[in-house]
Amino acid sequence: MTKKVAVITGSHKGLGYAIARQLAQKEDIQVIITSRNLQDGISAQQRLANEGLQADVHALDVTSETSVKEFITWLQESYNRVDILVNNAGVNPTMQPQESSLLTVDMDTMLATFNTNVLAVARITQALIPLMQVNNYGRIVNVSTEMASLNSMGSDYYPLAPSYRLSKVGLNGLTAIFAKELQGTNILINAYSPGWMKTDMGGSDAPFTADEGAETAVYLATLPDGGSQGGFFAEMRKFGGAIALPW
Ligand SMILES: NC(=O)c1ccc[n+]([C@@H]2O[C@H](COP(=O)([O-])OP(=O)(O)OC[C@H]3O[C@@H](n4cnc5c(N)ncnc54)[C@H](OP(=O)(O)O)[C@@H]3O)[C@@H](O)[C@H]2O)c1
Repeated sequence: MTKKVAVITGSHKGLGYAIARQLAQKEDIQVIITSRNLQDGISAQQRLANEGLQADVHALDVTSETSVKEFITWLQESYNRVDILVNNAGVNPTMQPQESSLLTVDMDTMLATFNTNVLAVARITQALIPLMQVNNYGRIVNVSTEMASLNSMGSDYYPLAPSYRLSKVGLNGLTAIFAKELQGTNILINAYSPGWMKTDMGGSDAPFTADEGAETAVYLATLPDGGSQGGFFAEMRKFGGAIALPW
C-alpha cells in the first residue's frame, strides 16, 4: 500500500501535535512532523512512538525560504509525494497591551504576525501544490479562527487582537483564492476554526482540548473526492457536524 504523505507545520506541540497524532492513527497515512527546532520534532516523534505510533520528522521554519527549500528537497528525495498539508503553525501576539486596539497596534508586530500566519502559508502551499498536482490529489487545511469572520468584527472581544485577527482574515482570503485556482482539480483547500483550546497559545481557561480541536482538521484532511473546496468551517465538536462559517 502506498501511504498518503501528510505534512503538518508546527506539529511538535499544541494543536499541530494533536492533528499529527490523530492522522498517525490511520494506517494509510504517513505523518511528517515538522518543527522549526528539530529537537522539538524529535521529542514529539518519540512521544508518538511511546504510544506505538510512527511518524517521520524534519525541521521546517515556514518563514524561512531556505528552510522551506531544504524541506522540499528532503521530501522529494524521501517520499517524492505529498498528499496532505495542514497549515497549523501560527503566532498570536494578542496578550501584548497594544493588541487591545487597532488605534494603538504596533506595525512591526502586525507585520511579523502576517509574515507567519499569511505569507508563510502562501510560501509552503505554493511549494507543495506542484507535488500534489503530479497525482492530482491534495487536501490542504488552513487553521484559522472564527474571530476572523468579517461578521465578528463588531464583537466585543477583549483584547480586540487586530494583528492576529486581520492575519487570519488574510489566511481566509488566501484559502478562497487558492480554491479558485484549484477549481476542477482533486486538490481541495479549506480553512477551519478549531475553537478555543488549552494550548500554550490558548491558555488553561480554554474549554476545548487540542485533541477536540484536531477533529475538524482530520475531517478536512481526509475529505473524499468531490468534497468541499474553499470552505470555512466551524469546530465540528461544538456543532456536532461540519458547519460553514460566514467569511
Ligand atoms: N489555541 C487556540 O485557542 C486557537 C484558537 C484558534 C486558532 N488557533 C490556531 O491554531 C494553530 C496552532 O495553535 P496552538 O494553539 O497549537 O498554539 P501553540 O501551542 O503556540 O503552537 C503554535 C505552533 O506554531 C509553531 N510555529 C510558530 N512559528 C513558526 C514558524 N515560523 N515555523 C514553524 N512553526 C512555527 C510553533 O513552534 P515553536 O514552538 O517553535 O514556536 C508551535 O509548534 C495556530 O495557527 C493558531 O492560530 C488556536
